[in-house]
Amino acid sequence: MASSTTAAGRHFCFLLALLLLSAAAHGQLSQTFYAASCPTLDQIVRDEVSRALFRDPPPLGGRRMGASILRLFFHDCFVQGCDASVLLDVDVTKGILLSEKDAGPNANSLRGFEVVDAIKSQVEAACPGVVSCSDILALATREAVVALNGTPWPLLLGRRDSRTANQSQANSDLPSPGSNLDTLIAAFARKGFTATELVALSGAHTVGLAHCVNVDQSQMQRCRVPTADGLMAALDDQTPERFDNAYYDKLGKRGLLRSDRVLTSRPDLDAQVRSYSASEAAFFADFARAMKKMSEVGVLTGANGEVRANCRRIN
Ligand code: HEM
Ligand SMILES: *[C@@H]1O[C@H](CO)[C@@H](O)[C@H](O)[C@H]1NC(C)=O
Repeated sequence: MASSTTAAGRHFCFLLALLLLSAAAHGQLSQTFYAASCPTLDQIVRDEVSRALFRDPPPLGGRRMGASILRLFFHDCFVQGCDASVLLDVDVTKGILLSEKDAGPNANSLRGFEVVDAIKSQVEAACPGVVSCSDILALATREAVVALNGTPWPLLLGRRDSRTANQSQANSDLPSPGSNLDTLIAAFARKGFTATELVALSGAHTVGLAHCVNVDQSQMQRCRVPTADGLMAALDDQTPERFDNAYYDKLGKRGLLRSDRVLTSRPDLDAQVRSYSASEAAFFADFARAMKKMSEVGVLTGANGEVRANCRRIN
């Protein structure tokens, strides 16, 4: 009797160990990944993001950094997956000969690296060596969208950081603002997204600014927002500091980039744009779902990748 219970117990332990091992080996993401190893993570991210949103100079009342973090995450996930490859600086001693941040779509345009560094240093002080830079960027992005009035999405954690960057992929795979609709649809399809998800994710342009070189010829008069970087234009000229559905309002006429304006050129997508313009809740629900999906593109887990000590350098 006792021996059979022990055998059953041993069996159970064995199965449990097998289960845990296979979860680690398959490296699944999970919502509670840091619950035990870094319980203060969420609070640190929230504090640092809100600090950053009051640090930026006007315009947008200091809130542009929220938009910049959101774009940084998109540009991470569309190149090699959400693996913090975009954060790596050139480091010839570590084999990083070309960085993604120097690629055409990113150079002199991506922002938010210092915010990620600030979060990372707080997180390292609280829970050393545990939390990846890719998870920090994923969490900071959700926090930024929420701080700008957007909606949160359920985020799975456990991403690991790349030991490589790929500048040529950043140049080939990040969509450009002069694109036509077919090119945009193809660029998103390459990463596993539908045309419907393209329209939902483009709603990120409800916040933030663009350099005048990227602005559609028809909208040049909007290039009048003074910044430290010269005159820029608001992607959403109604409420560029607020994450809302105003971007979709007459998008075909008011879109700042050609890539925004062409979204209404297919009847079914135009209907989607009009439904988001009529219902912020409809936009928020689809945006949240698409962001969760984007946050899982090409992630490294388990034995792949590493937890960087410094987000700008591989270990
Ligand atoms: C559909 C294809 C897309 C194209 C062609 C595109 C292109 C651009 C361009 C050219 C800018 C201005 C950059 C500058 O002049 O410095 C910009 C800004 C921005 N993009 Fe996109 N984008 C696209 C999709 C997305 C997606 C999917 C997201 C996020 C989910 C996003 C988030 C942003 C944000 C928030 C800004 C403002 C950043 C800031 O103010 O610092 N974009 N985008
Ligand atoms: C970088 O990306 C390009 C384009 O996607 C790909 O062909 C190439 O194999 C990648 N390089 C490395 C080293 O992964």
